[in-house]
Amino acid sequence: MSPIGLFRTSLAKKFVMAITGIILVGFVLGHMLGNLQVFGPPEAINEYAYFLHHILPWEILWVVRIVLLAAVVLHIVSAVMLVIENRRARPETYEKQKYMQASFAARTMKYSGLIVLAFIIFHLMHFTVQNIDPAFHNLRYDLDGKDTQDAYAMIILGFSNVWVSGFYIIAMGLLCWHLSHGVSSMFQSLGFRNEIWRRRLNCIALAFGLLIFAGFSIIPITSMISWYGGPDIVYGSEVRQATENWNGETPIHVTYPDSAHH
Ligand code: HEM
Repeated sequence: MSPIGLFRTSLAKKFVMAITGIILVGFVLGHMLGNLQVFGPPEAINEYAYFLHHILPWEILWVVRIVLLAAVVLHIVSAVMLVIENRRARPETYEKQKYMQASFAARTMKYSGLIVLAFIIFHLMHFTVQNIDPAFHNLRYDLDGKDTQDAYAMIILGFSNVWVSGFYIIAMGLLCWHLSHGVSSMFQSLGFRNEIWRRRLNCIALAFGLLIFAGFSIIPITSMISWYGGPDIVYGSEVRQATENWNGETPIHVTYPDSAHH
C-alpha cells in the first residue's frame, strides 16, 4: 500500500494522532519545567532564554519548531478526517449508542483542541513574536555583561493583565481536559490499553493533565498576586515599579534586590 493509501485507514490515522500527541505532550512537559524557572532568581530563566536564542545553533531551534508545527498540523488533519469518517461510517443508532458510552471529555475533544489552538496562536504573538505589548522588547537584562532580554520581567508584565491571565488559565484548563482524554487514548491507539488498564490509564491521564494545569497556571496566578500588592512570590512589585511610568522609548532595566542575584 502507498503511504497515502495507508493513511486512508483509520488505524493509521489514530497512529498518527498518537505519535504526534506524544511529541506535543513531550514539548508541553519540557516547556512547563523550563517556565517553572521563574520561581528561581531572574537570572535563571533569562540565561535559559539566552541559551535558546544565542547559544543553541539556530538550525536546531528551527528543526524543533518545524517538527512541532508538523505535529500540530498532522494531529489536526487526522482528527478532522477521523471525525468525518466516523460520521459517514456509523448508522444513526450506533452513533447514539457510542455517544452514550464516550466520556464528556472524549466528546468535547474537538472544542477543547480548537480553543487550545487559538491560545497557541495568541501565545506565539504574545511571547515569541512579541507584537502585543511594545514594552516587552524594551525590557533589558545584564547577563554577566551581555545585554539581553529580560524574559523574566516580560512574563510578569504579560500576566499583569488580568484578561490575558484569565485567558491563559482557561486555556490551560482546557488543555488539561484535552490531555485527560487524549493521553489515555494515545495508549489505546498504540495497542497498549486493555480492559484492566483502561481505568488506570484514565487516572494517569487525568493526573498528568492536572499536573500540567497546575504547573502552568501557577505562573499567571503568582505573577498577579505579586503585581497587585500581595506577597512577592516572584518580583512583581519590582517589575511594576520599573514599567509603570515607561516613556515608550528607553530600555527598561528592572532593579532586582541583591538577594535575587544568585
Ligand atoms: C504560564 C504558561 C506559559 C508561559 C509563562 C509560557 C512562556 C513562554 C515564553 C516566554 C515563550 C518564548 C520563549 C522564547 O522565545 O524565549 C514561549 C514560547 C512558546 N510556548 Fe509557551 N508559555 C506558557 C504556556 C504554554 C502552553 C500551555 C503551550 C502549549 C500548549 C505553549 C507553547 C509555546 C510554544 C509552541 C512556544 C514557541 C516556542 C518557539 O519559540 O519555538 N506555552 N512560551
